[in-house]
Amino acid sequence: MSAPYALSAEITHRCPLHCPYCSNPVELRKREDELTVDEWLRVLEEAGELGVVQVHFTGGEPLLRPDLDQLIRRARELGFFVNIITSGIGITEKRVQQLAEAGVDSMQLSVQASEPELADYIAGFKAHDLKRQAAGLIRAGGLPLHMNVVLHRQNIHLVEDVIELCVSWGAKRLELANTQYYGWAMVNREQLLPAKRQLLAAEQAFMRATERFGKSIELIWVLPDYYEDFPKPCMGGWGKISLTVTPDGRVLPCTAASGIKSLRFESVKEHELGWIWRESEAFNTFRGFDWMAEPCKSCDRRFQDFGGCRCQAFLLTGDARLTDPVCQRSPHHHKLAEFVALMNEREQGLSPDDDRDAPLFSYRGM
Ligand code: SF4
Ligand code: FES
Repeated sequence: MSAPYALSAEITHRCPLHCPYCSNPVELRKREDELTVDEWLRVLEEAGELGVVQVHFTGGEPLLRPDLDQLIRRARELGFFVNIITSGIGITEKRVQQLAEAGVDSMQLSVQASEPELADYIAGFKAHDLKRQAAGLIRAGGLPLHMNVVLHRQNIHLVEDVIELCVSWGAKRLELANTQYYGWAMVNREQLLPAKRQLLAAEQAFMRATERFGKSIELIWVLPDYYEDFPKPCMGGWGKISLTVTPDGRVLPCTAASGIKSLRFESVKEHELGWIWRESEAFNTFRGFDWMAEPCKSCDRRFQDFGGCRCQAFLLTGDARLTDPVCQRSPHHHKLAEFVALMNEREQGLSPDDDRDAPLFSYRGM
């Protein structure tokens, strides 16, 4: 069994934004359920003993925890690389300075679109201008600025403009993540899945931008797996390289795993992190290859993709042991293909004349 190298510390589910593509669970945890700072400090110690080298403080919005600086400082003392994944809302010059002094290594700022009005509509909050200011403050504070945008039916036509915007805001790296359908994104799947035509145009725009901006920004394209023939090697294999701790202390093999209702996830309140990684049922159920059924069991691609994504298998078939239906060899692949075909018959995206007061999405909320 390998040691995990990355820990996603979801320190809160609270968030000023309401993004409909959020991969957080639909049952969000309230403030009163969150781990205390002492419990998080213990999680960090145990993560260090386990071999973790990177910590991503995420949420929700991690800046809403006033004890974040204390956690960053301890994470740095333990030798971790520390990244913060943030909406940027609430950042001030002083806050950036405090984060830098605590030792944060990188800030990953999200953006929803290149057009402010559309971006605010997607976020369900007037966020875009605050994000522009946050980007400026992060750069002025000397912290490396990384950005990410989640791509979907309502913004994918703007890929090139989004890249240009992130370059102009000073980002050194931009992750263009096609929506993965878990949590709130699954609820909003019909409003989010782009048509194939949109996707092909976006891929071309991405290639153009790659040439145009060269080495001035590192661009990462996260594949839209509903349009692939074979599944992604989700999480690099279950229980193999990373783990997530939820705001209330449950330990998951991936951020979306709480959606698998057939598994029980142990909590750091009751068990040491190393025990959960090595011994708990949830981490061992899909570790390795022995759990696989056909067609994965005898397929030579299993060493590349580990049978795909367990969360997706559960969401689309009700059984997390089955082959990810993205795989064309899955007996359930036709369900996904039919959904994709149906969405391709629908009109695409919001038009500028659409009524933005009429909510298109089920917005993320407590
Ligand atoms: Fe991967 Fe299983 Fe499909 Fe083979 S059958 S390609 S191992 S998901
Ligand atoms: Fe959970 Fe793929 S998102 S295993």
